[in-house]
Amino acid sequence: MRIDVVTLFPDWFDWFRGQRHVANALAAGHELRTLNLREHTPLSGGQVDDTPFGGGAGMVLRVDVMDAALRAFYDGVDPVDLRAQRRVIALTPGGRLLDDPLVDELAAEREVTLLCGRYEGFDERIVEHFASDAVSIGEYVLAGGELAAMVVCDAVMRKLPGALGHSGSALEESFSTALGGRPEYPHYTRPAEYRGWKVPDVLLSGHHEQIRSWRLQRSRERGRPRAE
Ligand code: 6GU
Repeated sequence: MRIDVVTLFPDWFDWFRGQRHVANALAAGHELRTLNLREHTPLSGGQVDDTPFGGGAGMVLRVDVMDAALRAFYDGVDPVDLRAQRRVIALTPGGRLLDDPLVDELAAEREVTLLCGRYEGFDERIVEHFASDAVSIGEYVLAGGELAAMVVCDAVMRKLPGALGHSGSALEESFSTALGGRPEYPHYTRPAEYRGWKVPDVLLSGHHEQIRSWRLQRSRERGRPRAE
């Protein structure tokens, strides 16, 4: 798949591209591109944001700047039409909460565009007319959408074939369908005993059926399945 991130800080993603599972996904042919808003602004001095109408603190990303940047990047396609062709996601604390089903949904897309707001966020017309979705990564406010974009990319890219070293790793993990949307069971490794803290006997037993049912039981105890 190809993920495009529209941001004022494209170089932040250089570090992100080096993370193992991201690098693996990229090596397997997936793409993560960045589009620098400031490089495409029609305003002088690289201006991209402005003070909010009605007053208040902070700056708001301008709709005309987003329009020009998206058009420049996507061969002149009107962003209003672009969002009918692909998912264009505005990252904003007011959006749909990111969870495993949404991550699966995005991982199944061929192309996704993530819009990062800064400061007080977007002019609402960007969300209303250019975005197909608004997504939030939690109920707190970040200074900008870049970290949220990395969270989305991290969660989505590790689901792509070849991103994780062991192909089973993404199947039976927290919140997966295999675990009925519940948190993952606990893991242990050597030493089998440390400061008197023992690894559960069943895990050392070699009885695969018992291990399997023990794990499912622990997962069930840890949490309720997600609401459908
Ligand atoms: Cl997507 N953006 C910002 N700025 N803050 C957030 C968020 C997104 N999700 C939670 N907080």
